Amino acid sequence: MNRDTINEIAKNTMSYRKSHLHREKGFIYYHCQRVANISLSLRRELFPDEDSMDDIIYAAAMLHDVTKGIEPHQETGAVLVKSLLKDECSPEQLEFISDIIALHNVRNHEELPFYIKLVQDADMLDHFGSMNIWTKFLGSAHSEESVWETLRFWDSGEHKQFLVKARSQLNYSRSKDIFDQKLKFEQQFHERFKLECNGEVDFS
Ligand SMILES: [Fe+2]
Ligand SMILES: [Fe+2]
Repeated sequence: MNRDTINEIAKNTMSYRKSHLHREKGFIYYHCQRVANISLSLRRELFPDEDSMDDIIYAAAMLHDVTKGIEPHQETGAVLVKSLLKDECSPEQLEFISDIIALHNVRNHEELPFYIKLVQDADMLDHFGSMNIWTKFLGSAHSEESVWETLRFWDSGEHKQFLVKARSQLNYSRSKDIFDQKLKFEQQFHERFKLECNGEVDFS
């Protein structure tokens, strides 16, 4: 399996497409690239001697959202990937890749193999930290929200509940640590944003 070719296929199928009205064209391709990188970093950190599935993890992560918008995308994607990668992967590799895509958002199942859980955690983690600020600002621009509405949203119980739920869906405690670190950054950003939205100046 050639990772450059997989990347090319992912780019051709996703980078020109708009998967969400309120996000930039190609968002899903860049998201998949990040999820592939996060998945492999987590694999090296949590299972340092287990590199036999790396190509499969890479390919599945690169295409896990290929049919985003054609729901249920985990099912449509699991089917489409078999034809998209048929010249690049063996039938056995295609089965693994298809399974990962089919289960990438079926969370809180203890018995799943590590290579599925890694992609699940990477997929979740990519939505937080600076990326969460980027997507919120894109959404705010799309719906013409003021900075105050954005600040109210970040302060809302609904948003806090969403964060608690997202954290609870992570499989590994190391992933929860990364999540907490990302949230800490977001919190610092929110505080700074609030201060500057009020025209306050930090003279320190
Ligand atoms: Fe997805
Ligand atoms: Fe995703």
